[in-house]
Amino acid sequence: MKENYIVCNCMQVSYSDIADALHNHNKMEDVMEVFKDVQNVTHCSTGCGGCYQKVLDIISEVLMG
Ligand code: FES
Repeated sequence: MKENYIVCNCMQVSYSDIADALHNHNKMEDVMEVFKDVQNVTHCSTGCGGCYQKVLDIISEVLMG
C-alpha cells in the first residue's frame, strides 16, 4: 500500500503529492534544488515552514529509493 498522509498542513500537501513531484528528479541532483522545484509544484513549506524537515526527509527517502 502506498503511504499517503498530509505532510504540509498549511498547504494540504500529501506524501504522494511530493512523491509525484519527484518523478522528474534523480538522486544525482542537489537536494535543495529538488526541494525548490517540489515547493514550486506543490507549494509545500510555503506557510509556517514547520514541515520543512519532513519534506526534505521525504525527498531524500524517495530519491534514494
Ligand atoms: S505545515 Fe507546511 S508550511 Fe506549515
